[in-house]
Amino acid sequence: MLFILFFVAILTVFFLRQNHRKNEPFHPPPGPKGLPFIGNLHQFDASKPHVYFTELGKIHGPIFSLRFGSKQVVVVQSAKLAKEVLQTQDRNFCGRPSMVGIQKLSYNGLDIAFAPYGEYQKKIKKISVVHLFSSKRVESFAPIREEEVSRMIEKISFLSSTSQIINLSDLLSSFARSNICRVAFGKRYKDDEGSSSKFDSLIREAEALFTSLFISDYFPYFGWLDKLTGQFSRLEKTCKDLDDFYEEIINDHLEPNKSNSEREDIVDVLLQLMKDRSLELTLDHVKAVLMIIFIAGADTSSAMVIWTMTELMKNPHSMKKVQDELREAIQNKVSINNNDLVKLEYFKAVVKETFRLQPATPLLVVHETIRKSTIEGYDILPKTLVYVNAWAIGRDPNSWKEPENFMPERFLGSSIDFKGNDFELIPFGAGRRICPGMNLGVASYELALANLLYYFDWELPSGLRKEDIDIDPLPGITMHKKNPLCLLAKKTNIYNYMIS
Ligand code: HEM
Repeated sequence: MLFILFFVAILTVFFLRQNHRKNEPFHPPPGPKGLPFIGNLHQFDASKPHVYFTELGKIHGPIFSLRFGSKQVVVVQSAKLAKEVLQTQDRNFCGRPSMVGIQKLSYNGLDIAFAPYGEYQKKIKKISVVHLFSSKRVESFAPIREEEVSRMIEKISFLSSTSQIINLSDLLSSFARSNICRVAFGKRYKDDEGSSSKFDSLIREAEALFTSLFISDYFPYFGWLDKLTGQFSRLEKTCKDLDDFYEEIINDHLEPNKSNSEREDIVDVLLQLMKDRSLELTLDHVKAVLMIIFIAGADTSSAMVIWTMTELMKNPHSMKKVQDELREAIQNKVSINNNDLVKLEYFKAVVKETFRLQPATPLLVVHETIRKSTIEGYDILPKTLVYVNAWAIGRDPNSWKEPENFMPERFLGSSIDFKGNDFELIPFGAGRRICPGMNLGVASYELALANLLYYFDWELPSGLRKEDIDIDPLPGITMHKKNPLCLLAKKTNIYNYMIS
């Protein structure tokens, strides 16, 4: 009986598709030929998807389509098409797919990033913009940022006094985690040696699961394979452990005798909103928002600092220029804050140039079409996955001169910014799905970077040349440098003067 029902269902889908093809001419974007059933999955390079898509673009043009199992995929990679997707037709393209890992980790789409587009999503996004990451809130977190940066600088200073090679990637990662934990729930959750705590490994596992391949997503009839491979139980276990962890944080905050912390953290704000009943928030909503803050908020800033230091080490002329500017502008100040950086033109240009060449999330976060749309005469069906390749757009020779070269000078006197209005530079996306944590992320990134450049001169370990520094990425939503950046730090006179 089950077999007959299955057979009838397949036939119905087949005839509906035939009908659709006969009645409406369908003109999809061009793309590589795939195999029956699996589509283009066998050709896909999951280790560097942004590079793989860029290469395909050279053959098929700035918009092309692929098929991953049962999912239609469209990739766009020019400023003009990004504008079409993220601004002109934003309403059609602002959905997010409901994939197995994402659904479970986001408490069935209760968070900001994966809530299906609609009333709830609009409200929670507004809350994030107005209450969680507003400029005022970012300013109120400044003492946390500054304290965490100072801790990092002290560690570097200690390592530099003993001429040890410094693993900057580890240090930055540790800084960013502590910073976001204190912003989100008022505690550092790191042991004193800076080694990974249980929470760190849980978040890393959650990050991996967000981008892991679940067979059920692409081959719905073969979901049972995810059980066999252990993917489902891995997901269940991580979600359960994280849920316990969030429960503990929330209970701490609900404790009537909770000592009044110096400033409101994000859990405080969410619990207050829950009490006010301005939106029907439950504890699951709070946990889902915490989850996305940890996934989206910690690693992005630290990855950006590492990419900037990598580019500066490879381009000593730019390194000298940015250090000279910083040291001249911030003479003899005991500590640097974000306000000191506002007028530093070259520093700001270095930041933009790194966003252009090494955007932390090179494919943004995958979008999904809500309804049938047409772009440049090509038809795109509802529920198509859409990748906007910000990495390729940043290197498009139609938008940039000498696009592969790190040249901050290109931004001097230019009005191009990364805030979502200039589509040739979109490291935070644009439109309805633009990153709400942009101000917070940039503040942490710039403060950590400025301190590293101000207090220390940086050298490569002996025997290494600048050409030896690789720029290979690790796979994942956030693009990290695959091999850690390891350097020697020399304290400058400024540092010695400050601590004397
Ligand atoms: C340098 C740091 C950061 C970069 C480069 C970055 C980049 C991005 C990008 C590209 C998107 C996707 C936009 C799209 O799909 O069109 C995004 C979304 C998001 N980001 Fe960020 N981000 C950063 C920092 C942060 C921080 C600090 C937070 C919060 C603590 C945050 C929270 C979010 C959230 C909640 C979304 C989902 C927005 C939505 O779907 O409506 N991000 N981010």
